[in-house]
Amino acid sequence: MPADAIYPALYRSLISRIDAEDAHVLAVRAIGWAGRFEPTRRLLRATVGRRPAVPVAPAPHGPFARQLPSIVGLAAGMDKNGTAILGMDALGFGFVEVGTVTARPQPGNDRPRAWRHPEIDGLRNAMGFNNSGADDLAARLRELRSTRRGRAVVVGANIGKSKVTPVKDAVADYAHSARVLARWADYLVVNVSSPNTPGLRSLQSVDSLRPILAEVQAVADRAAHRRIPLFVKIAPDLADDDVDAVAALAVELDLAGVVATNTTIDHDLGAGGVSGAPLTTRSREVVRRLRDGLGQGRTIIGVGGISSLDDARDMLDAGADLLQVYSGFVTRGPSLPGRLSRLVR
Ligand SMILES: Cc1cc2nc3c(=O)[nH]c(=O)nc-3n(C[C@H](O)[C@H](O)[C@H](O)COP(=O)(O)O)c2cc1C
Repeated sequence: MPADAIYPALYRSLISRIDAEDAHVLAVRAIGWAGRFEPTRRLLRATVGRRPAVPVAPAPHGPFARQLPSIVGLAAGMDKNGTAILGMDALGFGFVEVGTVTARPQPGNDRPRAWRHPEIDGLRNAMGFNNSGADDLAARLRELRSTRRGRAVVVGANIGKSKVTPVKDAVADYAHSARVLARWADYLVVNVSSPNTPGLRSLQSVDSLRPILAEVQAVADRAAHRRIPLFVKIAPDLADDDVDAVAALAVELDLAGVVATNTTIDHDLGAGGVSGAPLTTRSREVVRRLRDGLGQGRTIIGVGGISSLDDARDMLDAGADLLQVYSGFVTRGPSLPGRLSRLVR
């Protein structure tokens, strides 16, 4: 059996028997642990996590102040609290987006809140931003940045609205997270597209979004004493006109770009948002529309259903500059990020 086929077989026969959230917690803990020690980091890097010797992004990709070792990153939600960044880096990801974190720590929705759907090659979740809070993540990133190795990893911080904060007070909630995180992050993402926080997706309308993004950018720049690359992450379920409106707003506010897309609620499988293969077509469509609306200067991080080299290339063809993976990492296994990082150009 070829090495790349072992994990999917294990996933189908063994891993999928473990509760989805338990498996997730175990995996992130193991990756976090492996990332703490030089020998295990080296082992991962030398095996599954090999990246190209020469960065695949020879010109600086996007608005980051430095080059990326590869254009394939970890999507938000897997390492919400930033406990496994070095391990994810050793597995071959070119950048790591941590979060979503909220201004206040919160437990998220009741379990069960994560499900596998192998019949559609997808996952479904209704986590509800379970996270230890922006201040806790900031402290962890600060510690990470105190080491040379930790400073070398390109890290994005994804922020959401605390559940207890009413939608009308969203600006201050996002601003708090931006203020404490900006200094330690290479970029920030305002997440207004999770389906699992009541009212959150209503913030995608440009009238609600404008004050949030303007304030987050201002607060973050002030806190970090530099221009912070700011992205907004949108849902695949937005109507085309709304996608265009977000692109126009990103240009108006001079944002760094857009992350597209989050999970979809366009399904009848139960609560929460679906990710993986069912997203592939719509995520690319959204990216294509965004590229038209944004022009060439801004960065699109394409995410949704990428689990193979062909998927990655199709997302780049649609207009993405950078890629992210979540579900494919779960279903195809730990060799996927390194493999994509080595092969995607
Ligand atoms: C279990 C789970 C939790 C997620 N949590 C977050 C999150 O906290 N914040 C966020 O912006 N996206 C979150 N996402 C969405 C992913 O970042 C990504 O946008 C989406 O899953 C599509 O990519 P994929 O098809 O590669 O999974 C989550 C996805 C899953 C499956």
